[in-house]
Amino acid sequence: MPKKQSYDVLIIGSGGAGLSLALKLADRYQVAVLSKFALTEGSTYYAQGGISAVLDSQPTSIESHIQDTIISGAGLCDPEIVRLTVEYGKKSIDFLRHQGMSFTERQNKKGDAELHLNQEGGHSERRIVHHDDATGKALSLSLIDKARRHPNIVLLEHHNAIDLITAHKLGFKQQRILGAYVLDTHSKQVKTFTASTVALATGGANKVYLYTTNPHISTGDGIALAWRAGCRIANMEFMQFHPTCLYHPDNNSFLISEAVRGEGGKLILPNGSTFMQHYDARAELAPRDIVARAIDHQIKKHGIDCVYLDISHKPAVFIKSHFPSIYQQCLKLNIDITKSPIPVVPAAHYTCGGVMTDSYAKTDIAGLYALGEVAHTGLHGANRMASNSLLECLVFAERAREDILRHKLDESMPVIPDWDESQVIDSDEEVMIAHNWDELRRFMWDYVGIVRSNKRLHRAAHRLELLKNEIADYYHHYRISNDLLELRNLVIVADLIIQSALARKESRGLHYTQDYPELDTTQNPKNTILTPPVD
Ligand code: FAD
Ligand code: SIN
Repeated sequence: MPKKQSYDVLIIGSGGAGLSLALKLADRYQVAVLSKFALTEGSTYYAQGGISAVLDSQPTSIESHIQDTIISGAGLCDPEIVRLTVEYGKKSIDFLRHQGMSFTERQNKKGDAELHLNQEGGHSERRIVHHDDATGKALSLSLIDKARRHPNIVLLEHHNAIDLITAHKLGFKQQRILGAYVLDTHSKQVKTFTASTVALATGGANKVYLYTTNPHISTGDGIALAWRAGCRIANMEFMQFHPTCLYHPDNNSFLISEAVRGEGGKLILPNGSTFMQHYDARAELAPRDIVARAIDHQIKKHGIDCVYLDISHKPAVFIKSHFPSIYQQCLKLNIDITKSPIPVVPAAHYTCGGVMTDSYAKTDIAGLYALGEVAHTGLHGANRMASNSLLECLVFAERAREDILRHKLDESMPVIPDWDESQVIDSDEEVMIAHNWDELRRFMWDYVGIVRSNKRLHRAAHRLELLKNEIADYYHHYRISNDLLELRNLVIVADLIIQSALARKESRGLHYTQDYPELDTTQNPKNTILTPPVD
């Protein structure tokens, strides 16, 4: 592979957002898609519950999806973005069907097959289309299959984007995107990719916490890349903790879908008593922030390791047909969910904030788009409603397509210097990276988790300052590796989360602090917007 490569469009990320955009543009443009590991390694592949989408044309169904999203978002959703996203629902599912994805159907009372709809927290009605309890796998494999066959799409696995190349960084006055420096982690070569249109589709940042449902790739790279390039980042205090991650020493990141609660699963204490009714009238189907906080409270109050999610009162055949992957995964660990409750704890799951974009996925830099979990569009507000994320990936891929096709690509490219490695040597202290990774994720979990306070946030900020300096020093002296790049990005993400959490002097949605436990009703709700320092 040549060290310098040029494409019309460079897409960083091969999840639902990145591949959808690639497929939508490939008939017109030469597109390269980068993936840090294997193409499937992203949150998309692991998605379970499904995709919320209104498929009938009833105005009441659209309005109800909008309302539920806004209520879950605790006053911070952008109502125009919510409407736009919900209205693109049917088109998005049609797109997936066109790519060959299938959805679970069941027979209705008349004996006809119709799409089965899941229900999850925050949804007042069933509106979530799914493929069993492994929706993401079906979605990911259909898109990868289509992309592999397209002559205009180049798929590059094990390519880690290090930094964006912008006109400002090369000394030009007028800012625009020019490409990215990318580490080929197999050949260890740093390559220069040039493109006048670049899309960040790098997923979330939940690896910043010790316990997470996310795969390894979710290290917030896109957020850090955009921040270093000069983009504003919004609402990073709203990190979402999924209430029910499996609690087991041999697999502590496996998700137990919220759809289990949608089908009647109850949260119970070790003595078998339910507790959600004491926290919210919607009980198990309250929005995620409320359920996760309630579990956290019960765990701390009773000094227990976990609570339990019990669906065993349903017929075994129902459980096995609705949740085949969860059933099998738990059985491997000797938990038969048709007979016994599942041990669960909350874990970091979704990044509601991210790179600020407009309704066409455009960032602050001309030619640079951000879509999927990396972006902050205004859809999720202070708490994302379940299954609205895959929808957002699809909708904003379509919006970016509309914008990109409307404009002629700027084909002029200045001379771009190669990556300079002349000043660095091989590291003799890899242990520093492993140690700092661990330390960062542990203090983020302990001090910046589900329940926060000023004291804990300041403690985390202090620890972070030390890490920041150590890592910057290391980065400037030693040859880069995958782990170092990720750590460098995680430190930026952690900093943005802590700064945003300290700036919010109230409790709202996913951000709960003991120092300001109430919602601030004295002024209009505001987003937390951070602007990068000018070099
Ligand atoms: P991802 O799918 O995470 O893909 C990110 C891509 O970026 C990967 O290809 C990765 O390799 C690449 N990448 C990252 N950094 C770099 C870099 N530096 N260089 C090159 N490539 C890079 N949402 C729902 O709506 N419904 C659900 O049922 C649902 N279930 C979920 C279950 C689990 C277990 C998890 C973890 C999440 C779930 N979510 C669900 C959330 C949803 O899956 C994600 O928000 C969504 O899939 C994100 O898609 P994405 O394309 O933005 O990113
Ligand atoms: C789940 O199936 O519970 C995950 C859904 C989501 O994160 O949207």
